Amino acid sequence: MEQDSKLNIPTHVAIIMDGNGRWAKRYGLSRSMGHKKGAQNLLKIVLYANKLKIKYLTVFAFSTENWNRPKEEVDYLMKLPIEFFNEFEQRFRNENIKIKVIGSRNDLPQELVDKIEYVEEVTKDKTGLTFIIAFNYGSQLEIVEATKNIYQDIINKKLQIEGLTPQIFEQYLFTKDIPSVDLLIRTSGELRISNFLLWQIAYSELYFTKTLWPDFSTRHFDKAIKEYSKRNRRFGAI
Ligand code: IPE
Ligand code: IPE
Ligand code: MG
Repeated sequence: MEQDSKLNIPTHVAIIMDGNGRWAKRYGLSRSMGHKKGAQNLLKIVLYANKLKIKYLTVFAFSTENWNRPKEEVDYLMKLPIEFFNEFEQRFRNENIKIKVIGSRNDLPQELVDKIEYVEEVTKDKTGLTFIIAFNYGSQLEIVEATKNIYQDIINKKLQIEGLTPQIFEQYLFTKDIPSVDLLIRTSGELRISNFLLWQIAYSELYFTKTLWPDFSTRHFDKAIKEYSKRNRRFGAI
């Protein structure tokens, strides 16, 4: 697909990677095996996004609401990113990919927090794709935290209330300095946002597919980008 020069490649793609559990069920496997397969698929998509010269890819890996799942599944989901980084960290470094993790680190196991800090540090000067993992992320929490920090800065006279604009507000979000989302993809057939990047998708193009996340291949990704290329983004103008 890279040869197709007419294609309009989005700067920032976000993906709600949904359907791991249903994929596992279909094959008579445990939900955890679905997540493992989903993580393997994620590697492929990240490398492909980098190859397409997409600048930012944000994926939803664990929501603030996912704590409500059975303990066994949550425990596995806390271990999975550690395994993922151990296995693929060197690959990302070789491919010039920068890693960032957004979300609250407060309730995460220390081992995971240490690993996140490590991979962010060793990839911070990479200039290819910025790969952003939303983990223990919830958009409403993000907006409330931003509001609290804005309030503090106003009290401390670091910010004037009259100076608060959407552009300044954004600087208080986890996605500070990351451009807004151009294309949002959700797999598995659910037609909802589930508390993901509410602010950042204000003018995103939305793409929903019934394909379950572990089955979402580079061909499916191409299809989403082609569809995006055909959209007419007006941003309120005519
Ligand atoms: C998405 O797959 C991954 C996470 C939410 C961690 P699900 O686990 O939600 O899969 P389904 O929706 O049950 O099929
Ligand atoms: C959204 O999927 C969160 C992630 C993909 C990490 P969910 O499966 O948790 O969303 P709902 O519950 O179907 O809305
Ligand atoms: Mg789901």
